[in-house]
Amino acid sequence: MTRIFAVGASVLAMTFASVTAAETWTLDGDASRIAYGSIKKDKVGEVNSFSGLSGTVDATGAANITIDLATLETNIDIRNERMLEHVFRGAGEAQLAAQLDMDDVKGLGVGEMAVVDVEGALSLLGVSTELDLEMLVVRLAEDRVMAVSNDMVFVGTEELGVDAGIDKLMEIAKLPGITRTAPVTLRLVFTTDGQAAAAPAAAAAVQTAAVTGDVKAGKKVFRKCKACHKLEEGKNGAGPHLAGVIGRTAGAVDGFKYSKAMSGSGIVWDTETLTAFLTKPKKYLKGTKMAFGGLKKPEDIENVLAYIASEQ
Ligand code: HEC
Repeated sequence: MTRIFAVGASVLAMTFASVTAAETWTLDGDASRIAYGSIKKDKVGEVNSFSGLSGTVDATGAANITIDLATLETNIDIRNERMLEHVFRGAGEAQLAAQLDMDDVKGLGVGEMAVVDVEGALSLLGVSTELDLEMLVVRLAEDRVMAVSNDMVFVGTEELGVDAGIDKLMEIAKLPGITRTAPVTLRLVFTTDGQAAAAPAAAAAVQTAAVTGDVKAGKKVFRKCKACHKLEEGKNGAGPHLAGVIGRTAGAVDGFKYSKAMSGSGIVWDTETLTAFLTKPKKYLKGTKMAFGGLKKPEDIENVLAYIASEQ
């Protein structure tokens, strides 16, 4: 479900970009929200929402939004935990990416609105889902734009790859049924300072900010990696050094002999790709020569990433 939301956010971001093509827009996290509905036992409807949204739309209309999954609010603590563990599987965050069509909203004056179709891709744990959204875009001020979902967007849990997690929730909560499609609504507010900022810098900031987890616990987990990896620049062992690995392109350490699978993968290591890789290295990247079975517990991955990030 999180993935669903994330996609919606991307779409909105795109829309904003279209408003003023030459500017960079930043998501106002406090003013934005993504929610979805869940229906159990055929008749009990509930609203879940995410408040931790961040992201930008760059001058070319490329939108990237990060949804901090830990900000999920289902109004019941234990349910929040179960969703994060079983449905989002410790992913930490979901990413929305979209490319805006600038022509749709160009020239929208303050107080004017337009309905815009946007296509986005939501990715969670290495699975990407496409979403078609119809957004109502309103220009609130010269430097402020709001996009809200014009209709509900329905997202299927199967295509999001979260069906097994929902099965697990039903089993734990002894529920006869939870619907496998969720209506999603979005409210995204973007602001601009009129500058065309450097997109890569903005993306890097998002990636770094997204790392959550317990550094101390992560240091212990890192013992499993130590035999092959050092965190100091230039110190390669059986594996490449991991200094600065978050935000780095896979296979980029000079002088380390990577597998073809790794050096040709084009993967950029962020919380999401690292989580997917470390869960099952050989499944995520067929042909990798990292001889490591993977970390089963999502919290181990979250923590080890926090540790790696703290050492960079
Ligand atoms: C038995 C040795 C071994 C262990 C244990 C191991 N790795 Fe690796 N790791 C490697 C090798 C070898 C590669 C290069 C893989 C390739 O080229 O396909 C690699 C690659 C990586 C990469 C990609 C680096 C880059 O520059 O692209 C990351 C990230 C990584 N490992 C993280 C970890 C973490 C975190 C752990 C512990 C949880 C771990 N590894 C455990 C051997 C190991």
